[in-house]
Amino acid sequence: MEYFVKSGNPEKQRVSCLIVGVFERRTLTPMAEIIDLASDGLLSSVLRRGDMDGKPGTTLVLHNVPGTLADRVMLVGLGRERNLDEASYRKALAASSKALQATGAIDAASYLTHLSIKNRDYQWNVKQAVLISQDTLYRFDACRGAKAREELSPSKLERYTFDVPRRSDLPAGESGAKEALAIAHGTALAKTLANLPGNICTPAYLAEQARQLAENTGSITTRVLEQADMQALGMGALLAVASGSRQPPKLIIMEYLHGAADEKPIVLVGKGLTFDAGGISIKPSAAMDEMKFDMCGGASVFGTLQAIAELKLPMNVVGIVPSSENLPDGQAVKPGDIVTSMSGQTIEVLNTDAEGRLILCDALTYAEQTYDPAYCIDMATLTGACVVALGSIASGLMSNHSPLGRALLAAGEQIGDRAWELPLWPEFDENLKSEFADIANIATKGAREAGAIIGGTFLHRFTKKMKWAHLDIAGTAWQGKRASGRPVPLLVQYLINTQARRTDE
Ligand code: BES
Ligand code: MN
Ligand code: ZN
Repeated sequence: MEYFVKSGNPEKQRVSCLIVGVFERRTLTPMAEIIDLASDGLLSSVLRRGDMDGKPGTTLVLHNVPGTLADRVMLVGLGRERNLDEASYRKALAASSKALQATGAIDAASYLTHLSIKNRDYQWNVKQAVLISQDTLYRFDACRGAKAREELSPSKLERYTFDVPRRSDLPAGESGAKEALAIAHGTALAKTLANLPGNICTPAYLAEQARQLAENTGSITTRVLEQADMQALGMGALLAVASGSRQPPKLIIMEYLHGAADEKPIVLVGKGLTFDAGGISIKPSAAMDEMKFDMCGGASVFGTLQAIAELKLPMNVVGIVPSSENLPDGQAVKPGDIVTSMSGQTIEVLNTDAEGRLILCDALTYAEQTYDPAYCIDMATLTGACVVALGSIASGLMSNHSPLGRALLAAGEQIGDRAWELPLWPEFDENLKSEFADIANIATKGAREAGAIIGGTFLHRFTKKMKWAHLDIAGTAWQGKRASGRPVPLLVQYLINTQARRTDE
């Protein structure tokens, strides 16, 4: 699929589908009005007959509209004109891209990108349009049989054009399309790794994918630390989680170093738990299959690095993915066991299902000691409590450095991959006191209180020397039974913004 940004008259587009918006209460957008005039009032009469009332998310495809060169004209409902905002704009884009796929169109020109959204420009408009189109086109059928895969018809759409009002808007639109495409490719990689089942997507498989990423991009180098390396480094927490699994753990390191030699890297650390059964503190069976998604944080590191490699951002970024399974076994770590982390702090494992923080704490210490990061950001499907707090709308953000936290929140808002901040006040830390070790891996009093923050607070014990942020993506990384690829958009937008800000200075 190829995207184009153009500036041209709608009635003159020789395409299989022309897309224009209609407001609620049957008001045509200026671009729809042009088609209405060209067709001698066909659109107005369709509206008058009540076939399209402009309700958000509705679409109507008309064939052979006179006065145009298009095979079809699609009307897209936008809701009330005065309520037009980012959410209704995105909804219209999603509805039109979805309806377009149901037609036989091989090319399309959309004029929805003409709409003016408060505080947004055409770069943003086109970026959202391409992101949403790519999201609707994504399919995961790698695990269907050969026969079924043959029958699944791919989208016929080959060329999708987004129009902007003036020729002078073309550079903005094109830069939006380019960034969106890189983000979408990275998001799709994250989705696919995450959708793969635990028996295929093992720690070794992820390590192999990192080598592939290095090969495919040519601008990333990969290193993988094995169990023996972890032992030598004293990663007792990561090793404890892996001890119940037949699959050896991997610590995957991907370096994208294309900034100045003296520029400290931004380090991304992603939880790569390829299946979380809970360990000895075993989970209930209901929906346990979804715990194959417990590597979504790691998958987002892969996707983000691929995207910045595609954009050739001139900066230093390192991705670290601690990867393991968490299973019950005779050798598995047990409740009450005490392990020594790479940082030297001892941890009492009171619940083996709070394993994400155990593999992350050693990866974070490794990041700190190896890279002295400018900023360190971790992503993890860390707590069910975060799903309760924020649902699938926003990722939970916790940070010890407010400019970093603010930059991440702003990037998420900008790209439509939102996060919401939760506090890391020192009072929470008291809840991690262990009777026997330096720290417990779960709250020791009021176990059900502030679970997402307790997870962040645990990690904070290992990140005091860094400017650090933690994203709890337990509610956002997948929706229903499908991976969403979040927070790749947030992370890539943050990196683009950070790089742009540095160039300004
Ligand atoms: N991977 C889970 C978190 C999770 C649960 C993500 C449900 C998405 C949906 C994590 O390893 C976990 O099990 N966390 C425990 C922590 C608790 C034992 C303190 C949880 O949230 O129940
Ligand atoms: Mn768990
Ligand atoms: Zn987990």
